[in-house]
Amino acid sequence: MIIWLTGLSGAGKSTLAEGLVEILRREGMNPLLIDGDGLREDLCRDLGFSAKDRMENIRRAGAIALLGARCEILSICALISPLRSERDAVRELCKKRGVSFIEVYVSTPLETCEMRDVKGLYKKARAGLISQFTGIDSPYEPPINPELVIPTEQLEISEALALLKSKIDEYKLLGS
Ligand code: ADX
Repeated sequence: MIIWLTGLSGAGKSTLAEGLVEILRREGMNPLLIDGDGLREDLCRDLGFSAKDRMENIRRAGAIALLGARCEILSICALISPLRSERDAVRELCKKRGVSFIEVYVSTPLETCEMRDVKGLYKKARAGLISQFTGIDSPYEPPINPELVIPTEQLEISEALALLKSKIDEYKLLGS
């Protein structure tokens, strides 16, 4: 099973992914966390933010998650993954290999992400110091039919995590 969190920078993907890892660990599982920021420090440090590089970033993240799935390891991927076509490509691969792909849209609006600006990157992007920034001068395409939407503005983190957990349980019950 692959839990794929998509959303803008600062939407809360990593926070939710880390919280979910903790919950699953408490249940004796050992999930793999594949986070965009972490990937880019190491395996994907050769990649930037052009459309081509993002596509490669997402392809690699999906490939690792699929390797994990082969050994029954659940992966939680937290990447902006801005384009539908890229996310759908991972979904297709999952389908071919019989792996459940749970697309989760962390739907925090741009204004909120920008107001939070945890890493100060939106300010830099607005000032023109960073280019190709998602939501500013690079596109983000929300999923059309995701398995789950998490409106972080309307939920406590614990509530959002409970939604994620019950979605996983639902898929487990189906045996996938
Ligand atoms: S993705 O588009 O390829 O999926 P990924 O999730 O790996 O992006 O990385 C996003 C993180 O990189 C952001 O949370 C932010 O910290 C940082 N970042 C730096 N430059 C950019 C940029 N131009 N656009 C988006 N994120 C950026």
